[in-house]
Amino acid sequence: MKLFSSVHDVTDINQLVADALKLKQDPYAFQHLGKNRTLGLIFLNPSLRTRLSTQKAATNLGMNVIVMNMDKEGWALEFNDGVIMNGTTVEHIREAAGVMGQYVDILGVRSFPGLKDRELDYSEEIFNKFVKYCGIPVVSLESATRHPLQSLADLVTITELKKTAQPKVVLTWAPHVKPLPQAVPNSFAEWMCKADVDFVIAHPEGYELCADFTQGATITHNQTEAIAGADFIYVKNWSAYEPYGKVIGGYDDWMLTPEKLAQSNDAKVMHCLPVRRNLELSAEILDGPNSLVVHEAGNRVWAAQAVLKSMLESLQ
Ligand code: CP
Repeated sequence: MKLFSSVHDVTDINQLVADALKLKQDPYAFQHLGKNRTLGLIFLNPSLRTRLSTQKAATNLGMNVIVMNMDKEGWALEFNDGVIMNGTTVEHIREAAGVMGQYVDILGVRSFPGLKDRELDYSEEIFNKFVKYCGIPVVSLESATRHPLQSLADLVTITELKKTAQPKVVLTWAPHVKPLPQAVPNSFAEWMCKADVDFVIAHPEGYELCADFTQGATITHNQTEAIAGADFIYVKNWSAYEPYGKVIGGYDDWMLTPEKLAQSNDAKVMHCLPVRRNLELSAEILDGPNSLVVHEAGNRVWAAQAVLKSMLESLQ
């Protein structure tokens, strides 16, 4: 694998999930693959899980890791071509990414959307320019429209813990005070649409996701109906796709509560984290036996390790 930016870069998702679960059993079996190889992790936005789990995954594979918080430590980057750089940007992505490709063997990039210009965000300009100019394999650490390492870890978690061959998985919108990206729900939806699950998306009117990511999903505005019989409930807020990046108020009653959870098939509750307690998800659920959020975050290591292993094999 030379690029991991979405589910479409994966030939066989079931095999990748199996690889991740195998690595969980034997984390250091492929240390020879990463010997004298370096992973660069470039963050244009904050991170806890993605940074630490990907660093851990690379170390398990014998790699060296360089991390740079570009937003705080790097020069301000210019992404437009043909501009006279007499403003606040200091270095063009052409040189910056090209130079990064000289120092590392695989590059990871995190770049959130601005949530102002939908066309610009959905063009994935920033992530795609890193890919274009670095000249080495690239893994997405979350881009404007997708978070594939999170989605792979989510599928690993569901596969590991499911009790039936085709579990009912519900993605339910949750309230929030800030406009959040659509990357996690977009990505989760497109992975679940390819997985062997009965997949339902529940959200209030006005929070429709881009249809490119939800082909094959059952979509409803009735959260109660969606939760009935669910085996896994994935809780996540996202801002509107139309009007783009906006918060449409009045849906505070969409928070998942123990009363709602009681209508499910004793569902396990998932969230990518970070989560705002008692706003997105009740503390009682987070602290209770149905919560998978920490286990799910633990599986981020094995998801990242399976992807990096595949990339290292392509460098042999
Ligand atoms: N879920 C996730 O990507 O967490 P971080 O933003 O902390 O990396």
